[in-house]
Amino acid sequence: MAPRAVLVGPPGSGKSTVAKALARLWDVERRDTDADVEATAGKEISEIFVDDGEQAFRTLEREAVATALAEHDGVLSLGGGAILDDATQALLEAYAAHGGAVAFLDVTLSAAAPRVGLNNARPLLVGNPRRQWMDLMEARRPIYERLATVTVLTDKLTPAQVAREIADAI
Ligand code: S3P
Repeated sequence: MAPRAVLVGPPGSGKSTVAKALARLWDVERRDTDADVEATAGKEISEIFVDDGEQAFRTLEREAVATALAEHDGVLSLGGGAILDDATQALLEAYAAHGGAVAFLDVTLSAAAPRVGLNNARPLLVGNPRRQWMDLMEARRPIYERLATVTVLTDKLTPAQVAREIADAI
């Protein structure tokens, strides 16, 4: 069993809402690794970062991605930093090599900022959220691009339009 599509991209790229739209389009279930990690840990991601640290979160995230890739056959959205992990990269490469669809939801800062909300609780964006977001994106863009089998620039599109572009491309 393998997901019908895996959505990757930075915070504010719309992964969760696009996952909903794509799942509706295909009439399949959707799953999100952030939610899986929260369910496993029994607390919110921001609390995991504070109580246990980012490394602990990344370990839970790696396990959540591996489990969901093996178990889920609908639409799977990953936390924005999940692709930093070597084991996750290898799993996504293998998934794509077997015909899986990895959709990179590309977005500019100006479109991502209002979606993310500059005062929200995402733990990696405290301090100077715009600067931090740009730094994250710069470091991760090469990885998103390398892993993607489909890329959609989401800035001017509704979630339904992004979902349609992904569906049409695969
Ligand atoms: C993170 C993104 C978050 C969440 C965690 C870390 C990141 O998910 O996994 O706060 O490193 O970019 P979203 O991409 O859904 O915001």
